[in-house]
Amino acid sequence: MTKQLQTIARKHGTPVVVIDHDIIRKNYAGFKKHLPKVQCYFAVKANPAPEIVRTLYKTGASFDVASLPEFMLVYDNIKRLPPKQQQDFIWDKIIYANPTKPKETLLALDQYKPLVTYDNLNELKKIRQFAPHAGVVLRLRVDNTGSQCELSSKFGCATGEAVDLIKTAFAMGLVVEGLSFHVGSQCTNFQNFVQALNAAAAVMRESKSRGHEIKILDIGGGFPAPYNKHVRPFRELARVINAEIDRLFAPNIQILAEPGRFLVATAATSVARIIGKAVRDGKPCYYIDDSVYHTFSGIIFDHCQYHLKAFKKGKTDICAVFGQTCDGLDTISQSEELPDLEIEDLVYAENIGAYSNASATWFNGFPPAKVVHINE
Ligand SMILES: Cc1ncc(COP(=O)(O)O)c(C=O)c1O
Repeated sequence: MTKQLQTIARKHGTPVVVIDHDIIRKNYAGFKKHLPKVQCYFAVKANPAPEIVRTLYKTGASFDVASLPEFMLVYDNIKRLPPKQQQDFIWDKIIYANPTKPKETLLALDQYKPLVTYDNLNELKKIRQFAPHAGVVLRLRVDNTGSQCELSSKFGCATGEAVDLIKTAFAMGLVVEGLSFHVGSQCTNFQNFVQALNAAAAVMRESKSRGHEIKILDIGGGFPAPYNKHVRPFRELARVINAEIDRLFAPNIQILAEPGRFLVATAATSVARIIGKAVRDGKPCYYIDDSVYHTFSGIIFDHCQYHLKAFKKGKTDICAVFGQTCDGLDTISQSEELPDLEIEDLVYAENIGAYSNASATWFNGFPPAKVVHINE
């Protein structure tokens, strides 16, 4: 692989992100193998490359979208189906899982009779007014303890409010199709899933006893990518989730999940070039032609750390690696172990497929890295 990366970098220039679709298919197959009862809705936000959407669409995945443009990106694939099938397929293929939506988005979505999430009364009123043909899914607030990215202070209703929000939706003429939650992104604390599944089961039981049976359970994202050896294997998490699902829910419940990083993080490697070199207080410092405003944006937005490796062999030293912009925040790492490198040498970072180029900007006038897809 390292030879191929260098060849690609020579051919396309740097910075470049190489996305291997064989790995995406392998991750999808692993997800389905260990969670066979769960339909997999890829969270497009993790990496919205249309090539990835197409590959996952062909493997049978469905999609979680966070905006109208993401919805249309997925819908473009559905549009190729005959018209009758398109309507039957929409909930099977797309959930709009951003609990807060502008009214213009709801208006545009209504014609597709979409499945959308909500977590408060104001959102419900908006859906009723602007997308009355939508099916709704109530998002619960659940523990995000220990997850790399915390979502619970921004999204989800308290379990104590849930049944009232379900009753209100039905009273307004909407149909609550499902319950959803998110345990926080890169969740290595499996207890978050256990507690969330128990909370959802309790809400479903109470709702049923009040006459409103809920058919869909959406267990969200959070499935951790194997960034380091401390992340326990996915099969162990799946065993815990399967046991809770079997124990808590009726066999006819429809279960879906919204994995983002699990499917794409390990599929991408970025290659950058050393463009500057200095020694500061005795420490080697390298400057590369990528940055935290570009492919390494996950350092800021995703609280993720990526390790840089060199193609060159040799005795390593602790060094700092900075990005190409003028900002001091643009620090990729204060402690990488790299051999003595020269300007023009190449370095690479693995497992950089999620929340990386997805949030790259044009800061300082530098364009986002070129993306090269292999094994499509
Ligand atoms: C609603 C929703 N679903 C799914 C995801 C994907 O999460 P992950 O990449 O942790 O699987 C996110 C990420 O923020 C999200 O907000």
